[in-house]
Amino acid sequence: MYSLLRQFMFRLDAERAHHLTLNMASLWLRIPGMAWLWAQFWPKVLDPWEGLGLHWSNRVGLAAGFDKDARYLHVWRAMGFGSVEVGTLTPRPQPGNPKPRLFRLLQDQALINRLGFNNGGVAAAIPRLKHRPSGLVVGANIGKNKDTSNTEALGDYLKCFEELHPWVDYFTINLSSPNTPGLRELQEANFIDSLLQHLHDLPCQQTKPRPICIKLAPDMEPAQWQSLWKVLSKHRVSGLVLTNTTVDRTGLKTSPEELERLGNGGLSGAPLAPKSAAVLEAMRQYGEQEGFLPALVAVGGIMSGEDAMQRMHGGASWVQVYTGLVYRGPALVGEIASAIRT
Ligand SMILES: Cc1cc2nc3c(=O)[nH]c(=O)nc-3n(C[C@H](O)[C@H](O)[C@H](O)COP(=O)(O)O)c2cc1C
Repeated sequence: MYSLLRQFMFRLDAERAHHLTLNMASLWLRIPGMAWLWAQFWPKVLDPWEGLGLHWSNRVGLAAGFDKDARYLHVWRAMGFGSVEVGTLTPRPQPGNPKPRLFRLLQDQALINRLGFNNGGVAAAIPRLKHRPSGLVVGANIGKNKDTSNTEALGDYLKCFEELHPWVDYFTINLSSPNTPGLRELQEANFIDSLLQHLHDLPCQQTKPRPICIKLAPDMEPAQWQSLWKVLSKHRVSGLVLTNTTVDRTGLKTSPEELERLGNGGLSGAPLAPKSAAVLEAMRQYGEQEGFLPALVAVGGIMSGEDAMQRMHGGASWVQVYTGLVYRGPALVGEIASAIRT
């Protein structure tokens, strides 16, 4: 069924197909009685897990970027996800980069995107989060606006955190998108130290602490993440989301000419898997050695239950998917949840 839909959707511009598919699924589930009927037939895999002080129905999550504005939470629940990371949300709405900005690399089972944090801003997402469906862990992935300089970035993260705090279960600080100029420069110890201290000192966080994860790039050098570790350990960060997309283009089947034509952006999907898995493995080993191991969230090139199982064996607490969902469709969720069920 999904392969038929995919044949049609893959003829359309990738970003248009994304919105069209989600709007169709959302409308369909809003037909009276349909959500109930769907729940009777669609296998939702239960694998209850307690982690980060939260109760998860299973350990398959939707990665950030798929539902930036928290518009489709009921769709994700119906599909059987245990968690969703909405965002990246920024304090103010912004349109993102000029289109086209999302491309499929069919031979590689990959995507290249340079969306640039297109989102409706925190205030617009809050009413939807207030009415979120039950039974789904919802995290907020937060970032800075494009026109906020790195010296002012701290304020953007604090604003997103404070405003979203009552409405989400955990936070992911995004410092690793390649599509916001200079963002990755914030993946350094001083900034993270100051940010985590400020977040910790916020009255909302003092009253009701929310788990805080940090999302890192797969393109960092080991020396860079080793220097971060002291700070992560000092603040007892709850989790590391490993990883965001890569700017590396080596080893792709897609021709260099085609890659040149598509231009810049973050690469996701199957070719990212070895890199993300290597970062996960390295972080786990390093954490064990240093005596501090936050939850490790595996994301990057997970295209099957088998891929997910390997990441779980590599030390992941839960997994997230993005590109796999585009290529494999909603059946991937149950396939992964069954494969990693304890
Ligand atoms: C179109 C697209 C948009 C994305 N937007 C975001 C985003 O806003 N914030 C973020 O942290 N990651 C974003 N990501 C990265 C994904 O969350 C994920 O880390 C990455 O795609 C690797 O997983 P995958 O190989 O399963 O796609 C985006 C990825 C894609 C393909």
